[in-house]
Amino acid sequence: MKVAPSLLAADFLNLSKEIEKINASEADFLHLDVMDGVFVPNISFGFPVLQGVAKACEKPLDVHMMTVEPEKWIANVKELGAEIMNVHQEACLHLYSTVQHIHQAGMMAGVTLNPATPISTLEDIISELDLVLLMSVEPGFGGQPFIKHTIEKVRKLKELRDRTGSKALIEVDGGVNEKTGAELAAAGADVLVAGSYVFGSEVMNEAIRRLKTL
Ligand code: DX5
Ligand code: ZN
Repeated sequence: MKVAPSLLAADFLNLSKEIEKINASEADFLHLDVMDGVFVPNISFGFPVLQGVAKACEKPLDVHMMTVEPEKWIANVKELGAEIMNVHQEACLHLYSTVQHIHQAGMMAGVTLNPATPISTLEDIISELDLVLLMSVEPGFGGQPFIKHTIEKVRKLKELRDRTGSKALIEVDGGVNEKTGAELAAAGADVLVAGSYVFGSEVMNEAIRRLKTL
C-alpha cells in the first residue's frame, strides 16, 4: 500500500519539523489540500506557503485542488514540482481538456470524486487518467468520520479499471485509519491519504508503516 500523509493535519507552527519527519518516514507522497472557500466551505493554504513546503519536502507531492476552476492553477502546481495534480470532477466543466493540460505540464493527472458522485461519471475519461481520488468524507475538513459506502465505490472503480484496461491508481481520502484502511486495501485501494491518523499519532512513521503494511 502507498501512503500519502495529508499536511492539513500538521502543526502549522512547526511546519519545517513536520516536513523533516515526513522526509525521514516511509511515506510515498505528501498530500497537499488546496481550498478556496468556494468549492469547499474552508480555506487551507495557498501557493506562497506551498512553495516553502515544496522546497523542504523530499517526497513527491500529491496536490488535491479543492477550488473552482482548478485548471487556472496548473502552472502554479507545476512550479511546485508536484508529481500528481488532482482536480475534482464536480469543479471541471471541460474535464478532458483539463486532464490534457495537466499532462502537457508533465504531471500525473488525477480526478477526484465527492462522496455523492458516482463512479459511472468516469466511464469516458478513465483511460486518460493516472489516478482517481475517491473522497470518503465531504471535502474541506480533516478529522471527519469515514463514509462506509466508499468501500463499494472502490470495488466499482476497480471493476471499471479492469474492464477498460486503465492503469489509474485508486486513492482514497478522508477518515482513513488502520481499520478503514484495511477495508479499503481489501477492496482494491492503491494509495491511502491520512491526515489526523498520521499527524495525531505518537510516532508518525509507525502510523505510516501500519498503513503501508495493509
Ligand atoms: C479533506 C482533505 C483530506 C484531509 C483528510 O478535505 O482532502 O486530505 O486532510 O483528513 P483526515 O485523514 O483527518 O480525514
Ligand atoms: Zn485531500
